[in-house]
Amino acid sequence: MKLVAGNIYVHKDQLDGLDPMVKEAVREALQLTPITDWSDFDLVRYTDKLDEFSFLSYSSFLEDAFPRLLKSHKVQLSKRSVSFRDYRDSSNPPILHRKELFSVFDSELLEKWSALTLALEEVGAFDEPLKIGFQNQWVKTLHAKGFYVDGHHLLPLANQDSLVDRITLIESNGSMVQRHLTALTRYALSAPVQQLIRCGLLMKESSFFDYGCGRGDDLRALLDNGYQAGGWDPHFANEQVIYEADVVNLGFVLNVIEDPLERSLALKKALKLAQKVLSVGVMVANENNVSGTPYADGVLTSRQTFQKYFSQQEFIDYLFAQTGLMPFPVAPGICLLFKDEDVEQRFLLGRQTSRSVVAEGFHYRREQRIRERVPRPRAVKQSIFEANRELLDELWEQTLILGREPMPEELLNLSQLIDVFGSLKRAFKLNWNNQNATEFELASKQRLEDLTVYFAMEKFRQQRPYKDQPTRLKTDVKYFFGSLRSAQDAGFSLLKSVPDLKSLWEDAKRGAECGVGFFDESTDQYFIPADKLSFQQPIVRACVGCAAALYGDAASSSLIKVHIRSSKVTFLTYDDFYGKPIPLLVQRVKINLKTLRMDVFTYDGPFTPIPLLEKSRFLSEGDQGFLEQFNFDIRLREEGFFEHEFDVLSFETIQKFLHDACLQISGFDLLLVDKAPDVGAPCGRYLMFRDFFLCGETQAKFQIFNLPKQVETYRAYYLLAKNVLDPLIDYFGPIKLTYGFCGSKLRPLIKKRVSHDRDQHASFEKKRNGEFVCSRGGAACDFIVEHEDMYEVAEWVAGNTPVDRLYFHGSDRPIHISYKLVPDGEFYQVEESDSGKQLTKKLIFS
Ligand SMILES: C[S@@+](CC[C@H](N)C(=O)[O-])C[C@H]1O[C@@H](n2cnc3c(N)ncnc32)[C@H](O)[C@@H]1O
Repeated sequence: MKLVAGNIYVHKDQLDGLDPMVKEAVREALQLTPITDWSDFDLVRYTDKLDEFSFLSYSSFLEDAFPRLLKSHKVQLSKRSVSFRDYRDSSNPPILHRKELFSVFDSELLEKWSALTLALEEVGAFDEPLKIGFQNQWVKTLHAKGFYVDGHHLLPLANQDSLVDRITLIESNGSMVQRHLTALTRYALSAPVQQLIRCGLLMKESSFFDYGCGRGDDLRALLDNGYQAGGWDPHFANEQVIYEADVVNLGFVLNVIEDPLERSLALKKALKLAQKVLSVGVMVANENNVSGTPYADGVLTSRQTFQKYFSQQEFIDYLFAQTGLMPFPVAPGICLLFKDEDVEQRFLLGRQTSRSVVAEGFHYRREQRIRERVPRPRAVKQSIFEANRELLDELWEQTLILGREPMPEELLNLSQLIDVFGSLKRAFKLNWNNQNATEFELASKQRLEDLTVYFAMEKFRQQRPYKDQPTRLKTDVKYFFGSLRSAQDAGFSLLKSVPDLKSLWEDAKRGAECGVGFFDESTDQYFIPADKLSFQQPIVRACVGCAAALYGDAASSSLIKVHIRSSKVTFLTYDDFYGKPIPLLVQRVKINLKTLRMDVFTYDGPFTPIPLLEKSRFLSEGDQGFLEQFNFDIRLREEGFFEHEFDVLSFETIQKFLHDACLQISGFDLLLVDKAPDVGAPCGRYLMFRDFFLCGETQAKFQIFNLPKQVETYRAYYLLAKNVLDPLIDYFGPIKLTYGFCGSKLRPLIKKRVSHDRDQHASFEKKRNGEFVCSRGGAACDFIVEHEDMYEVAEWVAGNTPVDRLYFHGSDRPIHISYKLVPDGEFYQVEESDSGKQLTKKLIFS
C-alpha cells in the first residue's frame, strides 16, 4: 500500500486484506468499469472519501524499475460515472516509483526494489516530488543528478560509453563549442533591456552599450526609438568600437561561455565599461531546460552550443564573488550592478514607493482625494488662496507625495512661491488652512509605510554609510522616525511581523476588503495583481518584498500569490494578463520564505501552460477592462464551464468545450462559431447533431441530407440537448428521437398537418426572402422513452427542465418539446376527436 498526496494505492493482490467497507466500495466501482479480466489492472487508487476509484494498468510490474501507466479507468461512485484514459501511445506517461511498498511480491524482489529506492533517495532523486511523476522529467531529474537507471541499478552517467566518447571528443577540441549559435533573432527587446527601461535606468538621454550584443536586435530597436546605443560582439560585431557608457548590458553572454576564466573576464570587462549601471542576464535552471550533454559546469546542446543554467541564488552569489558589488535581482536570471550610488539609491527608493504608481496616473486613493477637496469658508484668506490656487495646489501635491512639507531644495518652483507669498511658511499656512487635512494624514501614513518597507528591505542590501545617503532620505528619516536608528528599528520590526501569520492574514484580508486582489478563504491564499502591490498593507508588502529579494522585481510578474499558512510567495507571469480574457501561465516562481528556496517552473515545451480562469476575481472594479472581463467570466459560467471536469485543463480544452457549444472566444466575448460543427460532433452529453438532423420517418424514407444552413440552428439544438434532454436522459435513460430538425429539403415532403411557422422544428432557418421560417426561434424535437408512461415523462420534463413548449399526445406516444433562451413554459395536451380533428388544450399537471 502506498500513500501519495492523499491518494491510497493498493495492488490488486492486496485487496483481500482491506477493510470490508473499502473492499465493497472497490467492488462496486470495479463493476461500473468495462474491466472483466483481472489482468487488466495492477493497482487501485482511491481516497478516504471512498468516492473516486481509479483502476490502473502498468507496463511490466516485475521487470520495469519504474512501470509506465498504460490505462486508467476512473470511477466516481456518487455520479456512477466512468472515464477512461489511454496512455499507451503517450511519449511521456506517468510512472510508478517505490514498487517495494506493494508488499505482495517475494522478498528477493522487494529487497532489490528497496535497494534501488534507497540509492535514489541518497542521491536526492526524490527531493522534488513534483518533478518525478512523468517519465521524461524523471529521466531528466536523474541525469541532472548525474545518474541513470539500468534494470534496477542506479549508475553514474559516466558509465555510458557513448557519452564518454562524446565528452572526450569535445575536450580534445575546445573550438567545437559554437557560442555564436546561441544568439537569437529577437523580435522584441530582450528582458534585461526591458527591465532597464522599466526601472527608469535607461532613458533616451543615457548612453548605452550592449556588450555581447549578438545579432544587434536590441540595439536596432533602441536606435529606432530614439535611444543612443552601441554594441560589440566577438562574432557578429567584432569591428565595432568598445566604449564606456552610462548603462551597459551583458545579456545572456555569461551562460554561453564554457571557460570560467573567460566568463569572469567578460563580466569584469562589461562592468568596467558601465559608468552607472550594468544589467546582466543569464539562463535560469528550470525543470525542463537542463537537457544536453554535461560539459564543464554546464551542458552541451545538440547544436554544439554551451549553456550554463544558473539557479537564481547561484547567479547572485557569482556576481557578488566576481565583482564585490551587491547585485539587485530584478527578474529571474536578471540582475543589476550599480556603479553610481545615487542612481542605486534612487532606484531602490523608487521600488518601495507607492507614489511611483501615483505618478503614472493611476491610484484610487488619489481619485478619492480629488473628490474630497472641500473649500474652507475664510473670506479674506480664501481669496488669496483662490487667486493662487494653481500654485498652491502644486505645492500641496508635492506635500502629499512626500507625506510631509517639502524642504526648499525639494521644490522646483521655490522662487515663484517666495515671490508670490513672501515666504514658504506663508504658502504652507495657506494650504494647511484651506486644503483637506484628512487627505494629508492618509498620504503621510502611506509614506511612512513606504519608508518602513524600504528600511525593512535594507536588510537584504549592502548598507552604505548614512552620511552618503541622499538628502531626501535623510530628511524623511528625521521627519518620520526622528533618527536613523528608529527608522531601522521600524523596518526590522516590520520584517519580524512577516512570520506572524495572524498579522499577515489580517493585512491580507484588509487589502482584499479595500477591493485590491482576491483572498481565497478556503486556502488562506491572497492573490495580488503585481501592479497593485503598492496598495497593500505594510506586512503584505514586506512579505512580498522578502521574496522579491530573491526573485527580483515583483512588478515584472503579473500576479503574486501569498500562501499565508506555508509562508510562501509565488510570482506568476502570464502571457498577457490584462489583454486576454484567459491569460496563459508562462512562468511560476515559488519562494519559500522559511528556507529561501526558489523554484522556477516554465510552461513551454512539453508543459501545458495553465489558463487563468475567472480573472475578474483578481481585478478591482475600477480597473480598465474589469466589466468586460466580469461579463466574460459570467458567460463562461453560464455555459456550464465550471461544472465540467477536465482531465487536463488547457486553453485547447477550453476552446474544445466552447466549440462543442458552437461558440468561440472573440476578444472578451463568446460568439457563434464561424463554421458549423460536423454532424457527427456531440450535441450535449449524450446525443450527436446527426441524431436531430437525420431522424424521423420522412427523412428515413426519402434519405434527405437534412442539414441546417444557419449556425444558430446548431447552437439552438445544442441548447435543447443541454438544458432539457441531457437532464432527462440522466433521469430516464436513453430516449428515441422520432422527429428533430426540419430543413428546407425535408419541409415540402412532410405531408401531415404541421405548422412549420410555429412548431420550432425549423429552428433559426430562413426562407428565401431572409425571414425566419418559424418566428419563435429555439429548437424542437419529438421523442419517446421506451417502456415509460409518457405522461410521467411529460410531467417530469415540465417540472424539472426549462422547457419552452411541451405537447403531450398520449401515454404511449412521443411528446413534442422545444427550448429557447427565454422559455414560455407552456404545456398542452393534444387529442383527436372522433372525426379525426386535433383538439389542443392546456395541460395542467397535478
Ligand atoms: C545568447 S547570445 C546573446 C546576444 C544578445 N545579448 C541577446 O540577448 O540577444 C550570446 C552572445 O555572446 C557572445 N559572446 C560569446 N563569448 C563572448 C565574450 N567572451 N564576450 C562577449 N560576448 C561573447 C556570442 O557571440 C553571442 O552573440
